[in-house]
Amino acid sequence: MRNKITVVGSGFVGATAAHWIAAKELADVVLIDILEGIPEGKGLDLLEAMPIEKKDSYVLGTEDYKDTANSDIVIITAGIPRKPGMSRDDLLNTNFKIMSDVVGKVVAHSPNCILIIVSNPLDAMAQAAYKLSGFSRNRVIGMAGVLDSARFRTFIAMEMKVSVENVTAFVLGGHGDTMVPLPRYSTVAGIPITELMDKATIDRLVQRTRDGGAEIVKLLKTGSAFYAPSAAATEMAEAILKDKKKILPCAAYLEGEYGIKGLFVGVPCKLGSRGIEDVIQIKLTPEEQAALQKSADSVKELVGVIGV
Ligand SMILES: NC(=O)c1ccc[n+]([C@@H]2O[C@H](COP(=O)([O-])OP(=O)(O)OC[C@H]3O[C@@H](n4cnc5c(N)ncnc54)[C@H](O)[C@@H]3O)[C@@H](O)[C@H]2O)c1
Repeated sequence: MRNKITVVGSGFVGATAAHWIAAKELADVVLIDILEGIPEGKGLDLLEAMPIEKKDSYVLGTEDYKDTANSDIVIITAGIPRKPGMSRDDLLNTNFKIMSDVVGKVVAHSPNCILIIVSNPLDAMAQAAYKLSGFSRNRVIGMAGVLDSARFRTFIAMEMKVSVENVTAFVLGGHGDTMVPLPRYSTVAGIPITELMDKATIDRLVQRTRDGGAEIVKLLKTGSAFYAPSAAATEMAEAILKDKKKILPCAAYLEGEYGIKGLFVGVPCKLGSRGIEDVIQIKLTPEEQAALQKSADSVKELVGVIGV
């Protein structure tokens, strides 16, 4: 049987996620939005690319949740993106209303799906989806760390003039200014970057990673990043559908891990067919633990505002 992925929101991130998924022949894709004609048009256009790509993924655009029935994975990208000068937190109330509309309908038609949340502010929206869905915590996963670590990997590879394939990077914490890149767990061909670069260089790359989203918003002026975010959500979906047991940084609902309880925060997770199959706990220095706690505190403040 073929896998089925629904992507809610057929804007920049949603449509590009559909593109990556279909091009990899990962699953049939349903693209849904509230804008009449947009998901249908983008879906049909993408479907018509499949003979050229030699892929048999079926792509359907719709405004009707009936078409999303029995999806294995639902990626939620519905919501407004940032404009220059805005922080992700400025999107909170608008996107919470959208999340409240979307999650009930998704769950009614796909009660057994795994949710991958992309809408910002990411950790708070993941928490909203978790509470609204009533799903167990392994089935609600926030996408941020794969993107943030991909940005860090890009900057490390550029600095060292090496293949991106040689670079791994570790980023913990919330998706925002308080994210916690961990240089001592970030490597080039297995060698920690702390042995390859001086502190000033590492600090510069860490800061560029923290500001990675804002850098693109500033350039685009009318929206935010979408190629790398949608590729990141697709990597998570692939790990789940193929039961890869792949360890990726994800926003997960913590129940005491890293000393944090009842909040979505970015941590390394093992992704397989059951969604989050394990939260990997690593030993942090007191400074790293404090930075992670600060990040969790800012998530707590946001979820307090929307009461989830
Ligand atoms: N987690 C991350 O790392 C990350 C990265 C990039 C973007 N984002 C977030 O993803 C979201 C989408 O970004 P984008 O650039 O695709 O924006 P976009 O404006 O291009 O697309 C959003 C789409 O959501 C749709 N939508 C709004 N309300 C809806 C509803 N109730 N049901 C279904 N669809 C609805 C809109 O019509 C629009 O087509 C934003 O909140 C953005 O901040 C997150």
